[in-house]
Amino acid sequence: MEKVTRREALVRLGIVAGGAVALSALNSRVWGSGYKDSVNNFDRPLTAITLGAGNRGTVYGDYAAGFPDDLDIVGVAEPIVERNDFHAKTHDIPDENRFVTWEHVLERPKFADMVIVSMPDDLHHEPCIQAMRLGYDVLLEKPMAQSEAECREILKVQQETGRVVGIAHVLRYAPYFIDMRDIVLSGKLGRIVNMQHMEPVEWRHMMHSYVRGNWHDSTVTTPIILAKSCHDLDIMRWIMDEPCDKITGFGGLSFYKRENAPEGSGDRCLDCAVEEDCAYSAKQMYMRDKERIYAIMPVVPYDEPEKLDELILHSLKTTNYGRCAFKMENDQPEHLACAMEFRSGATATFNMDGFTSYHGRRTRLMGTRGDLVGDMDTFTYTDYMTRKAFSWDISISDVKGYEDSGHGGGDYRFVSDLLNAVYHRDESLLTSTVAASVESHVMGFRIEKSRKGGGVQEINI
Ligand SMILES: NC(=O)c1ccc[n+]([C@@H]2O[C@H](COP(=O)([O-])OP(=O)(O)OC[C@H]3O[C@@H](n4cnc5c(N)ncnc54)[C@H](O)[C@@H]3O)[C@@H](O)[C@H]2O)c1
Repeated sequence: MEKVTRREALVRLGIVAGGAVALSALNSRVWGSGYKDSVNNFDRPLTAITLGAGNRGTVYGDYAAGFPDDLDIVGVAEPIVERNDFHAKTHDIPDENRFVTWEHVLERPKFADMVIVSMPDDLHHEPCIQAMRLGYDVLLEKPMAQSEAECREILKVQQETGRVVGIAHVLRYAPYFIDMRDIVLSGKLGRIVNMQHMEPVEWRHMMHSYVRGNWHDSTVTTPIILAKSCHDLDIMRWIMDEPCDKITGFGGLSFYKRENAPEGSGDRCLDCAVEEDCAYSAKQMYMRDKERIYAIMPVVPYDEPEKLDELILHSLKTTNYGRCAFKMENDQPEHLACAMEFRSGATATFNMDGFTSYHGRRTRLMGTRGDLVGDMDTFTYTDYMTRKAFSWDISISDVKGYEDSGHGGGDYRFVSDLLNAVYHRDESLLTSTVAASVESHVMGFRIEKSRKGGGVQEINI
């Protein structure tokens, strides 16, 4: 396969025209509409209040810390004292703007441009509605809400109030998916007749989040097709660029169940006689390997190793993270196989898999003039006419300023586009709008209905 420079690759892939191209134009084309630069040239930073200073609240806080001319965090609501303290200290938040829960923030008159709703799934809908009615623009974490009706209500209130609301479908802002979609829209692949998309969740991630962790009970949070895979349905709908009319899904929970617990196992891995022979041991994951420990304690004291071990031990003794993975009250499927028909008759399949050794979404697009195969690090496009293949990888994408961003650069680009949309009061600078997100969320809710015996679901948005 030919190796080419970034610029040559973009020209050949049809993302930019040949000849002289101004760098700024190239950037905005590659990075998505509305993107200017890491410094957005606002005349003042926009202000935001973090509702939920956990993992995602910290990601958005990190953006503010990295780009203080763009965003200033001026308030926080967070019930875990250590997280509240940490967020307040990091962003120099005055005591009068520190709150225990989101309700306390919204009891006060509006005191910032935006709120960042980064609380658990069951605390998205109501805070978002109330914030919009108070005049706040909103960064709303996915999934938007716990039901189709709630998603539609958010859309209704957003349209009534005219607020700018960005849904954190951050993959839409990753250069990998932006460039992939641009190739599809350029017609280089001809007409797409089929799409295969797979989300390998990686087995430890599955066990951490959907067996022991916050999302283990779909009735309290959301079904995994929303909690984990609304990103994928959204990307599929966005790349196919047409509505999905029919959808169906299968899948279930078969392994992490009481009847599969190893013989002689205890209720907690700390008191388990067979722990050392168990691949699913919490002691192995958190204590020995120190994986994903940010989620199992209020704040990780990275510079105090002794304290760290103490906190891990405490968590394994007192929280779900120390329980036997086979003896939880979990109900999330570990595998899903879904099929879709789009408006033109094009078809697609989606697989979510909780038993893989690797991360990184896999995508295959089959078109009448060419095809594309990608694994989130790189994708290859083959042209049937010329018989040539071209490859994309991050080295031909410009990650300037956002190297630290998660989701393939998507996290920070999302925030940047949202801030631009808020500053210019122009929702068109955003691709993950409420309206677009409702559509892909409905696909998820219908898959869940189908999976539970509802058969093929017709979607009329
Ligand atoms: N966009 C993405 O790619 C992405 C990735 C991971 C998680 N998420 C979503 O982001 C949301 C947050 O996930 P997370 O991983 O940050 O979880 P988290 O548990 O780390 O953070 C949530 C925080 O909200 C706080 N909280 C709970 N109740 C509250 C209340 N009443 N008022 C104020 N704060 C409250 C919790 O104490 C916690 O610190 C979830 O909905 C999740 O699905 C999105």
